[in-house]
Amino acid sequence: MAGSKRPDTSNVLTGETKKKLDAVFQPIALTDDVIKRIMAVYQEQMRLANSTDEKVRKTSDHLMMNTFIRELLDGTEQGVYLGLDLGGTNFRVVVVKFTDGVADTKTKYYRLPDAVLSGLSAGVFDFIAESIEDCLKLEGLSDSKEKIPLGFTFSFPSIQISLKKSTLVTWTKTFKCPDGVGEDSVAMLEAAIERKCPGLPVDIVVVMSDTVSTLMAGNYLDKRCRIGLILGTGSNAAFVENIEEIEKWTGDYQDPKHVIVNVECGSTGDNGCLDFCRSKYEKELDQHSNHPGSFTFEKSVAGLYLGELARLVLVQLVQEGVLFGGKQVDLVERRWALTASHITAIESDEGQTTTRTKKVLEEFGLDSIATDKDVAIVREVCDFMSRRAAHTIAAAMAVLVNHVGRPEVTIAIDGSLYERHPKYHDSMMEIFEKYSPNTKVTLILAKDGSGQGGAFAAVSALKQNAKGIRCA
Ligand code: BGC
Repeated sequence: MAGSKRPDTSNVLTGETKKKLDAVFQPIALTDDVIKRIMAVYQEQMRLANSTDEKVRKTSDHLMMNTFIRELLDGTEQGVYLGLDLGGTNFRVVVVKFTDGVADTKTKYYRLPDAVLSGLSAGVFDFIAESIEDCLKLEGLSDSKEKIPLGFTFSFPSIQISLKKSTLVTWTKTFKCPDGVGEDSVAMLEAAIERKCPGLPVDIVVVMSDTVSTLMAGNYLDKRCRIGLILGTGSNAAFVENIEEIEKWTGDYQDPKHVIVNVECGSTGDNGCLDFCRSKYEKELDQHSNHPGSFTFEKSVAGLYLGELARLVLVQLVQEGVLFGGKQVDLVERRWALTASHITAIESDEGQTTTRTKKVLEEFGLDSIATDKDVAIVREVCDFMSRRAAHTIAAAMAVLVNHVGRPEVTIAIDGSLYERHPKYHDSMMEIFEKYSPNTKVTLILAKDGSGQGGAFAAVSALKQNAKGIRCA
């Protein structure tokens, strides 16, 4: 079986240190049994969320949201469309120009200031409106006579009410606005456009999760793509579901007989269903997170959290005197100081090489005290915690792959964690080879797919409206 490469620390770590590391890793290791239980739990949450009975649905911590999007691209697309991508600290405006189904894509990046992330939600939407205006100016589109159809990727748990109406359930990740919950994200954006740049030539025709737009972007690249996954600051997935399979479906049954479902699974475990495999590190991280007591699953797999999970393990090893001679180093004090970028750098050291790991340690002022043994321990911890996170998300995706039940399934992935981590791909593949044996699974990077796919979904929305397709 192909697998992700382990760091080679055999020249440095003695049997005794290895034993001490094993004592830390073993209680939180994802054995076959644990993986199978995670898969069973995930599948059960999907089943409950699919029920026609609202009371049953509420017992699930998946949303399994009907996105109303049924049309995938078919290669005949023409014209200009816009995509917006709001979900992490970078906001993107994407312009897609189609010629006979071929997309020419331009992306502009805007960084949301920290104050906006925790201020009133109007500030977030004003920032978006002004960024769209800026992008249209730069692209020479601000005087467009026709309104440009726009697909809005809004990556927070939302209740989808129609193609262009969805109400926010909660902010997640680094967003802490005190208001906005229960509001329609499209209405909030339209109001901001009216406030900040009235007359902007755009028409918001669809709102969706980044998982959905990533799926759309992935399906453009590879027609076998039926699943979209985000592995960035946060994590979540969407898949193409046959409408006959959806118990709670209330739309029509005309072609296309499928719809994209946004699983909205970052909150899996909030109801306690994953307690059997939650480590003490995950529990501690949760207490100090932006949104304690929620988004249990996301906190085990996503980029915002991976560094802190590894740091908490390192802290324990310092406290046990195994690492840095037990000295009270800066790293022990500073919650969230170790980030996914650091882990990615450390994991990029191959074999017995330690250059990047040492550079990270230097950043924390640890270069003068870190022995070769310390460097090796840090590498082992980052490797173990990365693999654990990658296996966890892959176990969930294996459930979706098996559910889709096709001989070949491509999963399109967007997000910096997957894009930059050198081993996530291979670690995830280890799980598919074992737990989705009947499907040839391919993972593709849909870079910036969450923005580009927003524009693609605008195409779908217009097609569906023209055909009178009813999704509820
Ligand atoms: C949000 C999802 C989103 C995911 C990835 C999560 O925190 O709840 O809606 O898809 O992040 O951005």
